[in-house]
Amino acid sequence: MSRLVVISNRVPVPDKKKAAPAGGLAVALRAALSERGGIWLGWSGNSSGDENPGDLSILEDGNITYALTDLTDRDVEEYYHGFANRVLWPICHYRLDLADYGRKEMTGYFRVNRFFAERLVPMLKPDDTIWVHDYHLIPLASELRQMGVKNRIGFFLHIPLPPADVLFAMPVHEEIIRALAHYDLVGFQTDHDLANFVGALEREGIGRSLGNGRLASFERRFRGGHYPIGIETAAFAGFAERAAHNSMVRRARDSMADRPLIIGVDRLDYSKGLTQRIDAYERFILENPRHQGNVTYLQVTPKSRSEVPEYEAMQRTVAEQAGRVNGALGTVDWVPIRYMNRSVARPVLAGLYRLARVGLVTPMRDGMNLVAKEYVAAQDGENPGVLVLSRFAGAAREMSGALLVNPYDIEGTANAIARAIDMPLDERKARWRQMMDHLLEHDVTRWCDDFLRDLTEEEQAGDHPE
Ligand code: UDP
Ligand code: G6P
Repeated sequence: MSRLVVISNRVPVPDKKKAAPAGGLAVALRAALSERGGIWLGWSGNSSGDENPGDLSILEDGNITYALTDLTDRDVEEYYHGFANRVLWPICHYRLDLADYGRKEMTGYFRVNRFFAERLVPMLKPDDTIWVHDYHLIPLASELRQMGVKNRIGFFLHIPLPPADVLFAMPVHEEIIRALAHYDLVGFQTDHDLANFVGALEREGIGRSLGNGRLASFERRFRGGHYPIGIETAAFAGFAERAAHNSMVRRARDSMADRPLIIGVDRLDYSKGLTQRIDAYERFILENPRHQGNVTYLQVTPKSRSEVPEYEAMQRTVAEQAGRVNGALGTVDWVPIRYMNRSVARPVLAGLYRLARVGLVTPMRDGMNLVAKEYVAAQDGENPGVLVLSRFAGAAREMSGALLVNPYDIEGTANAIARAIDMPLDERKARWRQMMDHLLEHDVTRWCDDFLRDLTEEEQAGDHPE
């Protein structure tokens, strides 16, 4: 088996003193890589100020070798805060109103991609398989190709790919699509994302589908597929069982004294639908007065990308909204919303999910949403909770036992919360079983194996699974 070399912007740097970063990419890739082993190159999360970043730091952890680079302040500003998180992220999450395009940031984005390629090339061996992750690093393969790299290179997009009309609002969309054509395999979370990509190629006559996942664009032949990312289902279920003894979980359980708990877990991000979710919860309480003083909603929301203005503004909006609802509905002995801006370690989260009668996962748009899958994996099969899930999360394509909602429909979401809280045990069990069976079969190892199998197999006409 050839060596696997993974590149992503965010890397869960092994550091016992720091909590692991919240975010699906780091969580899933660590789970996938820890079985297979390999090299993982990415940003250290640190800045070198005005100085050029020094040598890579190399850290060994189990069978993963981490190679980490600092970036300059300017790089972080233009590439990470700028183009990646103020252009690509909002556009891919259908938020054209929040996109703030600038040439300086776009140039910085391509420059930092070249820099990552320069750092990677000296580490490569001819038969390494290279796997690049997410929207920060789309141009990496074209930079590597220009430097003479001939290895197989795959790309996986963890976030949604919007339809052509939305994507083309980005002034450099053609360069971005051209860059994707330099990979051997481009993977998306869902068939919708893949169809949007093919639609974008065809709309401007810059490419076409040749059938069986084979694509042609800018005189290049490559492949596209959809590979819904999973979690380490069995291990996560084990965390949830063991977490009963954790002190935070115990305190949460004691404080609830058998009353129903609703849980939400999301980075503080406008794509997650937090304000609409709080509105829906408020509506649910107002329309179901018997639950006033009874149900509690715990929202775990670590701050994210705080230096990006839209995120900073959101911190205030959501905190004010939670405060307003607590002020309006709370009583001497009941707080309707427990709102936390702290990151919680996943083994503890697993225990909190298991305590909760309802998992409320209502993003306005999400590539997959691992929290939805974790909530299901953490349940006790004899008395499982109910997943209320946005139809706009990639996970909705798989989680057939969830109550699907449209997060723009506040009343509809409020009704789904009421239905989830009151759902009879038999129905809860049947819905959970369906989802759990799916998650056990389609776990993160399967995701990784499926992608790498398609990336490394010799191309034979017509053999590419769709
Ligand atoms: N997470 C965590 N601690 C927290 C909040 C979230 O470890 O306090 C993890 C969570 O368990 C999940 C990931 O962060 O594995 C979030 O992934 P998801 O796909 O739901 O959303 P993303 O943050 O990637 O948009
Ligand atoms: C999403 C993205 C990841 C990113 C994560 C956390 O999951 O798809 O690429 O790592 O959010 O965001 P951050 O900006 O902290 O890396």
